Amino acid sequence: MVRAAITGVHGYVPDYILTNQELETMVETSDEWITSRTGIKERRILKGDNQGTSVIGINSVNGLLEKTGTDPEEIDLIICATVTPDMPFPATANIIADKVGAKNAFGYDLSAACSGFLFGMDTGARYIESGIYKKVIVIGADKMSAIIDYTDRTTCIIFGDGGGAVLLEPVPKDDNVGVMDSILKADGSGAPYLHMKAGGSVKPATVETVANREHFAYQEGSTVFKFAVTNMADVAAKIMERNNLTAEDIRFLVPHQANKRIIDATANRMGIGEDKVMMNIERYGNTTAGTLPLCLWDYESQLKKGDNLILAAFGGGFTWGSSWVRWAYDSN
Ligand code: UT7
Repeated sequence: MVRAAITGVHGYVPDYILTNQELETMVETSDEWITSRTGIKERRILKGDNQGTSVIGINSVNGLLEKTGTDPEEIDLIICATVTPDMPFPATANIIADKVGAKNAFGYDLSAACSGFLFGMDTGARYIESGIYKKVIVIGADKMSAIIDYTDRTTCIIFGDGGGAVLLEPVPKDDNVGVMDSILKADGSGAPYLHMKAGGSVKPATVETVANREHFAYQEGSTVFKFAVTNMADVAAKIMERNNLTAEDIRFLVPHQANKRIIDATANRMGIGEDKVMMNIERYGNTTAGTLPLCLWDYESQLKKGDNLILAAFGGGFTWGSSWVRWAYDSN
């Protein structure tokens, strides 16, 4: 019997830094408002022609293959969680597989907004547990700047571009490490509060949809905020409870980076202090499917084999969930 373990993580953020100060010149806002309401100071933007989400995925996977000493031809499957695919089809995962030389892999994209990486990691883990596949890469990546209206101060201050990738491999169940348990949830009645109005099959692109700015992310922030606080905290608390984990057992909470106030509420509910919360929202903002692998990448050097991590996310859909992961290797 095997379990799926994360055996490597790597991330990528583009070079361009969009600061709160620059946003002050674009919309009616202030560094003080953004910092106190969200915790964000700056975010990254992928600039240049022909630069899509696959660029984030390719850079993440190339770094991952190099640091884990993995031959790309050994990869069985690539799952790319994103809501900003390079194009509606083919899947961004296929484009990434081609560019990194994963010739023997099949792949597909997974759409679950900010919970995408969590859903993808759990899906990848099941493929590994089946015994059929040995090396699965799960990417969480978004180029949010492609779907953000930079005249809308309620959304443009939150989002940024970036992401990361993990390698999942089988380990004996007795090792007691890996993806231990997950609770994943969805409620489609939340769609009106966070969605993109046009560009899908219900409302294909027309001159009017473009003129009406309907190809951007639309969010009713305070409603989403309320659902996010309750659901992310509930599900994180539940996964601890059903696995008999106390705050002392947890090395890190790895929360989706949407708003520092949502993260603080989740940590409070779990009874854990700030020193045990992975946080990089001040530098990257909300990268949607990218936040969790970016956190793991940033904190990798602090992780030791056996560390208990609670991953938690909430996002468009609504989708949300939490996973208990026992880290599988000493990073240094
Ligand atoms: O990752 C996917 C899931 N998404 C989330 O989890 C995001 C959840 N929502 C949030 O993080 C917050 O709701 C926001 C950061 C989006 C907004 O913060 P808020 O504290 O909920 O503000 P609000 O929307 O209730 O607006 C409060 C006030 C309003 O002014 P009035 O009507 O009280 O005069 C807004 O117009 O703040 C105003 N406002 C701003 N002021 C300066 C909204 N955006 C800005 C801004 N700068 N950028």
